[in-house]
Amino acid sequence: MKMHIVFYEVNNEEKAYLKKYLSKNFSLEFYSEPLTVENANSAANADIISVFIFSKITQPILDKLHNLKLISTRSTGFNHINLKAAQKIGISVCNVPYYGENTVAEHTFALILALSRNLHKAYHRTNQGNFSIKGLRGFDLKGKTIGIIGAGSIGTHVIKMAKGFGMNVVVFDPVENHIVKELLEIKYLPLEELLSVSDVISLHCPYNENTHYLINMSNINRVKKGALFINTARAGIIEPSALYYAIDSGIFGGAGLDVFEGEDLINEENQMLSKNVPVEQMESILKTNMLLRKENVIITPHIAFDSKEAVERILETTVENIEAFSGSRKYYKVI
Ligand code: NAI
Repeated sequence: MKMHIVFYEVNNEEKAYLKKYLSKNFSLEFYSEPLTVENANSAANADIISVFIFSKITQPILDKLHNLKLISTRSTGFNHINLKAAQKIGISVCNVPYYGENTVAEHTFALILALSRNLHKAYHRTNQGNFSIKGLRGFDLKGKTIGIIGAGSIGTHVIKMAKGFGMNVVVFDPVENHIVKELLEIKYLPLEELLSVSDVISLHCPYNENTHYLINMSNINRVKKGALFINTARAGIIEPSALYYAIDSGIFGGAGLDVFEGEDLINEENQMLSKNVPVEQMESILKTNMLLRKENVIITPHIAFDSKEAVERILETTVENIEAFSGSRKYYKVI
């Protein structure tokens, strides 16, 4: 009998690709919405589920999926999956580790350049027929210092690009990569020192118990006044109150955020009312709304991964992971 795969968070294009490559050997079912505890019955017979980041795979969901053998997330990050709970009941989890190093790094620089050269402000002005240059003077990246927190696949690409702009690069990462250090001439620093010397701070570490609120109310005052803050990693790496305080007080001269608290709910005001959203999360969402109104904050809706080429790589690897798990390929990447 064919293994049954239920896909969540897929659009029609993705559905067509997955059908083309998997329908011969698997039975497939597709949903455009995330998997939640409310709709988990839709995966009751699934041998495999495949999700993106808005499906939070919690213990109560796993309790409902008695047939499940594999969770295939079509993302690099896997903090939306309770790995311990899955492991305890023998469910494998795989991700797509290398689809978008350059893609996310390019988006990081899109945010940096938009802020350093006031592109968003200029766009709004000229759109309304106002061609005044007043208040639009930017600053050079050349000669400035960028602090990279987490120099793995994406962070290393950001370092290479920063070098292309003539920037100095400092890094905080508990694991030093000596090849990257020698080849790219970077300097590893303790976190607080990095915060105090960087003109641009960019997050590229995973979100987990060690990185939860890595930047927080205790160390935010170490940040060099006026530094740009870029987050394309995960919202929870910076304490929300530290972020709002730093933007309000001018500690951060600007912020480019592809990830932010409540990003999965902010689009769905109705959902916010019908779901029992905790008060603290409501507060974060409201604060994000307040940030949206600030001239020196640019928010993109978690699209750093979303290039044509990267999405193709995600789908290719997902098909490979699933085929490998079912035995028709030799290798798949288990977390
Ligand atoms: P990676 O695993 O290659 O690199 C992560 C780096 O962070 C490693 O060098 C690791 O040593 C370092 N690290 C771990 N703990 C740390 C800590 N406490 N402090 C500082 N550094 C620490 O991961 P990759 O592929 O570079 O992705 C990084 C993150 O980017 C992912 O975990 C994901 O959350 C996020 N991401 C966001 C996307 C988006 O669309 N916005 C798309 C893809 C990834």
